Amino acid sequence: MIYVKVMVTGGAGFIGSHIVEELLNQGHVVSVLDNLTSGKRGKLPGDIPFYHYDLGRDLAELEAIFSEEKPDVVIHHAAQVSVNHSLDHPIQDLETNTLGTLHLLQCCKTYNVKKIIFASSAAVYGNTEKDSVESDGNEPLSFYGLSKLTAEKYIKLYGDLYGLNYTILRYANVYGPGQNAEGESGVISLFCEALRSGGKFTVYGDGNQTRDFVYVKDVARANVLALTKADKDVLNISSATTTSVLEVLQSLRTLTGETIRPVFLGNKKGEIRHSLLKNNRAAEALGWIPHYSLLEGLKETIECVPESAVYQEL
Ligand SMILES: NC(=O)c1ccc[n+]([C@@H]2O[C@H](COP(=O)([O-])OP(=O)(O)OC[C@H]3O[C@@H](n4cnc5c(N)ncnc54)[C@H](O)[C@@H]3O)[C@@H](O)[C@H]2O)c1
Repeated sequence: MIYVKVMVTGGAGFIGSHIVEELLNQGHVVSVLDNLTSGKRGKLPGDIPFYHYDLGRDLAELEAIFSEEKPDVVIHHAAQVSVNHSLDHPIQDLETNTLGTLHLLQCCKTYNVKKIIFASSAAVYGNTEKDSVESDGNEPLSFYGLSKLTAEKYIKLYGDLYGLNYTILRYANVYGPGQNAEGESGVISLFCEALRSGGKFTVYGDGNQTRDFVYVKDVARANVLALTKADKDVLNISSATTTSVLEVLQSLRTLTGETIRPVFLGNKKGEIRHSLLKNNRAAEALGWIPHYSLLEGLKETIECVPESAVYQEL
């Protein structure tokens, strides 16, 4: 096994902190860059290099960080992650997600980084009639989807022009312990927060809208595999299984034994009805398939809820 020096941007966030843990478990050398807007320093071991830095800002400061760290690989997860925020603040979304990625790419070029692994999203596809595969056309419905797609294109061009290796991972709805309830795939974290606090289980529409939920530890494993595989490739990282919001609630009832009654609200504006990403390409290129079923992932997620949690009926 060759150990690699990896810089994880957004490493103090939900997915990033799981990646850091998996990298350290495998013996790699890890540093983290994060501006802590949603990330928490406390999610990381105290003894790894940490750079409190905003990616959309000063390139000279970022160059100084790269000059100090000289990573072999950059795993890029720092982002403005909210679709709704991108609609209200498109410039800030572009600064972080596109300009921030471009700053990183410039440093990768200058400091001879071998590979960048990029957290992209199902949001790059937009509305699709069928299950999404990587070769599908891209018509994002939000500035978030557009800023991620544009970042992907910059990465590919740095690959073509300067030989920078990359793997682009397009995530479905990631869930698991430590997720911010305001994140992109809020529904499971919102339900777990409702379990914890005794709050309401709010469901938009009729609850029959479906999502493709993939467990965060499977996502972290895909990133570590991509250190040495899937060169210059774009892969969906998903469960390739369709689950409705009501089915998630049913699984939570099964796991907790509680009578959970949802509170139904109207349809959420702009919400996609069904979303499913095929993951055959990840199986071929990474040798990756998800290990966790929804029930197994939910069980671990609930077990991480603070002990004071009240499993309360509504
Ligand atoms: N959670 C999902 O379901 C999902 C789905 C698709 C794609 N993604 C992508 O995965 C990545 C991680 O998402 P997450 O769910 O862990 O969200 P998160 O908010 O927990 O993580 C994002 C991290 O980036 C940091 N950050 C934000 N802006 C920054 C900036 N300008 N400079 C430096 N750091 C900054 C935050 O402090 C945080 O630690 C993101 O790129 C997101 O777009 C997530």
